[in-house]
Amino acid sequence: MTVTDPVTTQAGLGFELGEELSLIQDEAKKFADDVLLPLATKHDREERIGDDVYRQIGDLGFWGLTIPEEYGGAGFGNVALAVVLEELNRACAATGVAVSVHNSLLCAPLMKFGTDEQKQRWLPQLASGEVIGAYSLSEAGSGSDAAALAATATRDGDGWVLNGTKLWVTSGDRAGLFLIYVRTNPDVPKAKGITAFLVPGDAPGLKVGKHEKKTGIRGSATVEIILDGVRLTDSDILGEVDRGFPVAMDTLAGGRIGIASQAVGIGQACLDASVKYAMEREQFGKPIGHFQAVQHKIADMSARLEASRLLVRKAAWMRDAGMEVNRQSSEAKMLASQAANFCADETVQIHGGAGYTDHFHVERLFRDARITEIYEGATDIQRLVIARSLLK
Ligand code: CAA
Repeated sequence: MTVTDPVTTQAGLGFELGEELSLIQDEAKKFADDVLLPLATKHDREERIGDDVYRQIGDLGFWGLTIPEEYGGAGFGNVALAVVLEELNRACAATGVAVSVHNSLLCAPLMKFGTDEQKQRWLPQLASGEVIGAYSLSEAGSGSDAAALAATATRDGDGWVLNGTKLWVTSGDRAGLFLIYVRTNPDVPKAKGITAFLVPGDAPGLKVGKHEKKTGIRGSATVEIILDGVRLTDSDILGEVDRGFPVAMDTLAGGRIGIASQAVGIGQACLDASVKYAMEREQFGKPIGHFQAVQHKIADMSARLEASRLLVRKAAWMRDAGMEVNRQSSEAKMLASQAANFCADETVQIHGGAGYTDHFHVERLFRDARITEIYEGATDIQRLVIARSLLK
């Protein structure tokens, strides 16, 4: 893809979205406002996103946003994805995370590490949304310490047999393709004996277990995946045997830009709601937005969000340009997720008692924001990644 995205101009540095990206942003904005926003409370209450929403995302080309055109995708990069994800998440973070995981945690590593045969087999179906992607690294005993995972793949003739239980799998209830990390060599240091497998959702022995009851992003299913003698072949391995952990880490370096975009979207929804309420709600004979206490909250929210958005887009642009983004994606995720939680907290405060009820959607934003500091690496893991990249 040619990088015509923001930031680069002939002069060197610019901050406008180009014509193409502005069009995509407008499409995402319209879909977010017209379709997702009216459904977000329903998704939250019913703990489910309807099939029709998945279909419409496919019609817009967002499942295949970052997939090359030769495989039926739209051929855009991470900047476009960040722009689209911000808009979708502004309206419905449960839907937003599904699009982020699909593009960043499944399609991206498949495009980067996959064989031609794997790409031919999967990318067209992933581009249309016929197959939804999921990423499965964590287990009961391996969260922040991802390399401690215990699920195994053992050699059986020419093939492999997978056993174990994975946890916290976003979209695992409907995924047609999973990227699953398992231990293939227990006799080497833990990060050196892990392999990444592409596992079809209908593989015999793959079962969907418990659905988690979550505080927020309730429309997005988070499930346990049980691997009970799942038989695969060498052609299902993504990358090399025992070299799956670097695949997992590189993939998360991209995925964290997606979650940072989600955080900016949630934060923007908070700011929008706060500005609206501050102009409408009157106390002491005038709109509460006329009081400095409320103005300061709104100013702090706006500044933190804008700074986060710039970090997100810079990290995305660097990734599109093929640069290493370990530190930048963690910095973007850390600051954007903190900004989202700050905005959500202040937004509930501005709305007062009503903000703590379902009279307004800000209580959902408050619950949805919380996960951005947890998944795809908790805030302290982002600090660890940032510090390690500097102190080497
Ligand atoms: N790209 C490529 N390789 C990388 C890499 C990167 N960005 N980062 C690390 N590696 C490589 C290292 O070079 C090293 O390779 P060698 O074995 O060849 O030397 C290997 O990976 C091990 O690296 P570390 O020694 O740094 O590994 P560690 O065990 O100390 O772990 C960690 C580092 C950063 C703490 C990591 O475990 C981590 O990121 N933890 C958080 C896990 C996480 O984010 N989970 C999210 C789950 S998915 C999710 O939430 C999705 C969802 O549903 C939304």
